[in-house]
Amino acid sequence: MKQRENFGSKLGIIMATAGSALGLGNIYRFPCEAGANGGGAFLIVYLAVALLVGTTLMLSEFIIGRRSHSNPIGAFRVLEGKKNGWMSIGWLGVVCAFLILAFYTTVAGWTLGYLGKAAANHFAGNDLAQIQEQFAAFTTHPWLPVVCQLAFLALTAIVVARGVKDGIEKWSKILMPLLLVIMVVLCVKSLTMPGAAEGMRFFFKPDFSKINGHVLISAMGQSFFSLSIGMGALITYGSYIGAKDNMVSSSVSVVLADTLVAVLAGIIIFPAAFSFGIKPEAGASLVFTTLPMVFQQMTGGYFFCLIFFVLLVIATLTSTISLLEVIVATATEELKLSRTKAAVLGSLVTAVIGLLATLSFRTGSPLHINGKIFFDILDSATALYLMPIGGLLIVLFVGWRMKKADAIDELTNGGTLRVGIRKVIYYLIRYMAPVAILVIFISQLVGD
Ligand code: PFF
Repeated sequence: MKQRENFGSKLGIIMATAGSALGLGNIYRFPCEAGANGGGAFLIVYLAVALLVGTTLMLSEFIIGRRSHSNPIGAFRVLEGKKNGWMSIGWLGVVCAFLILAFYTTVAGWTLGYLGKAAANHFAGNDLAQIQEQFAAFTTHPWLPVVCQLAFLALTAIVVARGVKDGIEKWSKILMPLLLVIMVVLCVKSLTMPGAAEGMRFFFKPDFSKINGHVLISAMGQSFFSLSIGMGALITYGSYIGAKDNMVSSSVSVVLADTLVAVLAGIIIFPAAFSFGIKPEAGASLVFTTLPMVFQQMTGGYFFCLIFFVLLVIATLTSTISLLEVIVATATEELKLSRTKAAVLGSLVTAVIGLLATLSFRTGSPLHINGKIFFDILDSATALYLMPIGGLLIVLFVGWRMKKADAIDELTNGGTLRVGIRKVIYYLIRYMAPVAILVIFISQLVGD
């Protein structure tokens, strides 16, 4: 059998998984979704789903990955054989990876563009209207965001082609903790701005009457997106986990870290946004206008801004790497392509879909369907449909199809690890997670 690479250590797994989880989902998408869905009401559902369902699903993916030592498609073939259709979960995951990578690299490209703007001190002396204008001009520019997107994809492909240990693990380990530090600094700044309290109230005070089917599915979709679950990315990473590593504590650490960063992003964005009079529903422009405004008001703002965008680009890169890794692991194992070929081909296919997502921001673009831009269609199709469906099938597989002894064997590393709460975990996988996902999924379909 071909020797597969493993992560070098338990810290390596946590860091690589956290690298996949932490990214634009936390810093860009979370504030957009929380802002559009009532702030506090969204946060409370988000926390409940991420901590309970999120951890359970993450563990389930690790169980499948490590048991099968394979990519998402191969995993179900190894565990179930080719005949009975379980492999379609893997296919769903790979399709989902392509679609997410396509629109994710749109915003990833923006972060690269904004890194350039930060370096060139483009925000200095601009007022809010000018900063908003800069964002609109950049995102609707005919070629600049496209070039940035392609550059980002190329960067991702280069790292992925080099392999798991050298590429993914090394980057994640050093830079993720640094991001946390700079976010704490930003929180302090944001909280001391005039009018900050109103933003904090919006973010932390739940108005329960606002919770409806749409808020529920948006919060669940956001938590799946943010934790990189429901589409096989963590089956793929699970396949690199060594036999002796503790998956339970690793999952809990990653979920906590990811949730912390999302909440920190909220504490940075909302008080500052309210302070500047930016509406919480401002969507795409929320982060890209609020943050440059905050930096302008900080002593040493130029450097903080620069470091922040460097770290954001890297956090984003460790996420795009994990998305491309799903595709590359599948193509190398299923189609027997070399890593380099797989990385190049995978990013070329992504680029074609991705360009459409990026160009759909242009005014008058034909890429609007039923009043929605193509970017948003990809975003909703994955976070609100494909990931919940994938997640449901994954927990059903581990809870009902896999032998209980095999699942427990993985959880406890062949019985060598004393996981006291393993009964609880198995119960969560078998009952709580599928029921929660199903109820939330149906609540959106039957309307608000
Ligand atoms: N979790 C990433 C983020 O929050 O930015 C996005 C993501 C990465 C989703 C990898 C799915 C995935 F497989």
